[in-house]
Amino acid sequence: MVRVVRATQVEIDTAVQALRDGELVAFPTETVYGLGANAQNPAAVRKIFAAKGRPADHPVIVHLDSPRFLHRWVREVPEAANKLAERFWPGPLTMVMPRAANVHDVVTGGQDTVAIRVPSHPMAQQLLTAFGGGIAAPSANRYGRLSPTRAEHVRDEFGDEVRFVLDGGDCKLGLESTIVSCVEDAPRVLRPGSITLSQLRAVVPTVRGGADAGSPRVPGSDVKHYAPRTPLSIVTSKTLEEVVAQSTVDHERVAVLAMRPPRLANKFMTWINAGRRADLYGRDLYVNLRTLDKSGAREILVEEVPGGELWEAVRDRLSRAASAENVVAMDPDIAALRADMGEDIGYP
Ligand code: TXA
Ligand code: MG
Repeated sequence: MVRVVRATQVEIDTAVQALRDGELVAFPTETVYGLGANAQNPAAVRKIFAAKGRPADHPVIVHLDSPRFLHRWVREVPEAANKLAERFWPGPLTMVMPRAANVHDVVTGGQDTVAIRVPSHPMAQQLLTAFGGGIAAPSANRYGRLSPTRAEHVRDEFGDEVRFVLDGGDCKLGLESTIVSCVEDAPRVLRPGSITLSQLRAVVPTVRGGADAGSPRVPGSDVKHYAPRTPLSIVTSKTLEEVVAQSTVDHERVAVLAMRPPRLANKFMTWINAGRRADLYGRDLYVNLRTLDKSGAREILVEEVPGGELWEAVRDRLSRAASAENVVAMDPDIAALRADMGEDIGYP
């Protein structure tokens, strides 16, 4: 497959014009696709919340092409953030910092902090540089659902509601950025991603892992998130075939995401072998879950992944997807409508 990594000038001009007009533009990053709006236009940012069906008080990340305009968004860049930026930007790192006075509440969720990321995807860079400002963007999926790692996922998710989607091919990393809060004395990881705790600590030794109570609000840290529609459970490798056999006795279909091939054939089973490399497993995770979600299975069984920090982001997303088991899928249009009316929809 040809990797499309740069947009034409016409595409970029059109996207920039859309952003200036207060419209939404979906664009690729190295992690997942983002649903972007001019971060300085509150009405435009509100359109993101309406489209996603996301509660209005959840903050969004501001994307910049480089740290050169950081001072427009951040009151005071903490020393640790400076060091981490130097090492990991552009790249899959988001940092939460004290907000500058003029950053709009709709971007920060009314908090005194703002999350900033400088993505490395060439097309994201092209767009940000041509636009010349900050682009507020969450992942381009309905609230609580799987993040998109291909342009076609954004189309599947939003159809005509999002007119402009820049197609940059498959996302290289496939899992959302590592989020580090830099507002306390010691920086803290709020969401694990492909940049690991040891990589962060190699630059700033005091970085703490894990989230604890009282942390700033991160929707991705609610349980029931990043979820397929089909109920998902995590199963040990040892019992996988046994559980498949049980689940298919009455000829119901079952879907499996494993790190190895099946030991027994079963015609009611769709099995994906995602392999044993954490980076490739993570890159393909959402695509694989989407495939299994569409397979007509009653449930998705996921083989338990290894411990250790290389697998931390994958484990995090899988455990959130698993806890969505009892969630009744809500019509996205209704969810969007309710969110638009400012209701807390209580739906991931
Ligand atoms: O890789 C990524 O980070 C992708 C791409 C598009 O950049 N974006 C993404 O955005 O995953 P989103 O909105 O799906 O997740 C961003 C997370 C949310 O959980 C949000 O609550 C958190 O960042 N966040 C944003 N601003 C924050 C703040 N000021 N304090 C704490 N958390 C914040
Ligand atoms: Mg998201």
